Amino acid sequence: MVRIAHLSDIHISSPTATLARLWQGKRLLGGMNMLLFRRHELQNLRFPALLHHLEAQHVDHIILSGDLTTTSLHAEFQHARLELNPFFKNHTLTTIPGNHDIYTPREADERRYEHYFAETHGPSESSHGYPFVKIIHPHIAVIGLNSCVPTGLSGAWGLLDDEQLQRLPALLRAHQDHFRILVLHHFLLDRHGYHGLPRRGLRNRDALLSILQKEGCELVLHGHEHARYRYSLDGPHRPIPVHNPGPATCVSSARHHPGGYLIYDIQDQRIASIQGFVLSYPDGHIQPDDTFPSISPLPAS
Ligand SMILES: [Fe+2]
Ligand SMILES: [Fe+2]
Repeated sequence: MVRIAHLSDIHISSPTATLARLWQGKRLLGGMNMLLFRRHELQNLRFPALLHHLEAQHVDHIILSGDLTTTSLHAEFQHARLELNPFFKNHTLTTIPGNHDIYTPREADERRYEHYFAETHGPSESSHGYPFVKIIHPHIAVIGLNSCVPTGLSGAWGLLDDEQLQRLPALLRAHQDHFRILVLHHFLLDRHGYHGLPRRGLRNRDALLSILQKEGCELVLHGHEHARYRYSLDGPHRPIPVHNPGPATCVSSARHHPGGYLIYDIQDQRIASIQGFVLSYPDGHIQPDDTFPSISPLPAS
């Protein structure tokens, strides 16, 4: 049995560094948003406790599906990297970027996220490192995608570039004797069952859906939508489960917004069990909670 934890959207923030950079266009919006609205729900202080709790669960591997930072500041990446350092040391962490980790063209050009976190990726034959394949167990392959592009002043939409879409089918086929876990940041359905507003969804999701429908996959993991929910996609032989654990460090009274993470026990190439933990409101105490709402796609109107 292999135990894998999935968490997402930790949104490490640096209010001091943010205040110093508020003059920059998009960072003005993101920074004000963080300072005004997220200060009390996405707290850096909760992350060490979450990791401490996670360590006690004796997982074999951790998958973190993006939005490690709030506005891609060096201070935020350094903070996230420092907290996650134990998992770098024992090579039990895989991350991918979220839209908040590639916040403006400057961070994309610098490959700032990759500077701090590409060490957690697996090898890739592409020019920019995606998709990568990381064999975390002789029978389990994690395939990481980058769905994030700098989106201008107020968007958060995603796009998979042509190179990733061209390479993905062959990678899925080459690892079809593994339990394949595909990780991307953007959702394929939002928590309402909709493919997302153009400013938030994955704009070429249909291309990814047709690849998955043909090649199959055992599990798709994502974040981006700050809610815990699951759904399934059509696969060639059986439905493909798609899971979002919700934002890891969020403390919220909203029913669909629990923070926390999920643990999967994988045995004999299948999910034997899923265990959920949430941060209770308002104290942030971490407790078991196996509530995992299942959603269905909304019919096209
Ligand atoms: Fe997020
Ligand atoms: Fe996001």
